Amino acid sequence: MDKTCIGKMSDYPPGEIRPATLADGTALAVYNVDGRIYATADLCTHGEASLSEEGILTGCTVECPWHFGTFDVTNGRATAMPCTIPLKTYAVEVVDEDVYVQG
Ligand code: FES
Repeated sequence: MDKTCIGKMSDYPPGEIRPATLADGTALAVYNVDGRIYATADLCTHGEASLSEEGILTGCTVECPWHFGTFDVTNGRATAMPCTIPLKTYAVEVVDEDVYVQG
């Protein structure tokens, strides 16, 4: 499976969400949870909200501000209504300071 370099660790500050794009154009939301990087699909599965632009990250939970649904960014699981469909997650690898996403 292809992997895409999406930048440096310093591009993803702890506790923050940033956008990234895979080589095939797939939009991602990238999260730094206590120094670990996680990547999911950018769009909330309930509507069309961009989690990288509008999501609120608390611990490993991202809240979608449109209708206050939440997901666990470590595994994509929907954890609060109205979200029921999991977010697609992507494997992340950090080599030196470079961040790679499989996909
Ligand atoms: Fe995200 Fe509705 S669009 S909770």
